[in-house]
Amino acid sequence: MTKTVVAVDGPAGSGKSSVSKAAAKRLGFAFLDTGAAYRALAWHVLDAGADPEQGAAVIASLASFDYSIGTDPDGYAVHVGETDVTESIREPRVSAAVSAIARVPEVRTHLTELFRSIIRDTDKPGIIVEGRDITTVVAPDATARILLTASEEARMSRRSAELATESASDVAIALQKRDRADSRVVDFMTAADGVVTVDSTNLNFDETVDAVLDVIRTSQEK
Ligand code: DC
Repeated sequence: MTKTVVAVDGPAGSGKSSVSKAAAKRLGFAFLDTGAAYRALAWHVLDAGADPEQGAAVIASLASFDYSIGTDPDGYAVHVGETDVTESIREPRVSAAVSAIARVPEVRTHLTELFRSIIRDTDKPGIIVEGRDITTVVAPDATARILLTASEEARMSRRSAELATESASDVAIALQKRDRADSRVVDFMTAADGVVTVDSTNLNFDETVDAVLDVIRTSQEK
């Protein structure tokens, strides 16, 4: 049986992680959060005391980047070396550093290779991979390719609800800043040819998961 590969791209706060995870659970598929890998590298650069804005230092840190990520949608741990960084990669200092490292071409090539090997090696009948360039660069031949969007307002209110410790305006500013920086690296707001857009602005969580599952089923039938 051929493996089903589902590529999901979208901006921060679009719900792509939680929706992809829920869809993977329903289908018995593996799940890969590629943003977590970019975050783990940003954590590693900061941990080494290097400046994430210095491309050369970031490239040098790739040599010592010993990274692993689980693909179980019920709970995946992220490790850098022996350190469990699952929680710390979500800290605001990592979010603030990650766009700078993600724009280094060597970083993107290195991580893309890593993602392709994880997709190849999964022993599940399928895998849902989410990020910013999955439909276009990492897995352009995926069985199903989805762009998950939502209005900026909806994305901000979802993020604020997730990060209850930060004020809504701090969340809005950080999110806008990151969207601007990220969109200079990859265009994740427009669907490439053959990519199906799912707009979750007026959908609740379950409806969004169902919409994504519909796209996957239709693609599998083709
Ligand atoms: O999805 P996220 O917010 O956890 O992603 C973290 C950062 O990684 C984000 O600022 C953009 C970058 N990223 C990327 O450039 N390409 C990907 N495939 C995934 C994430």
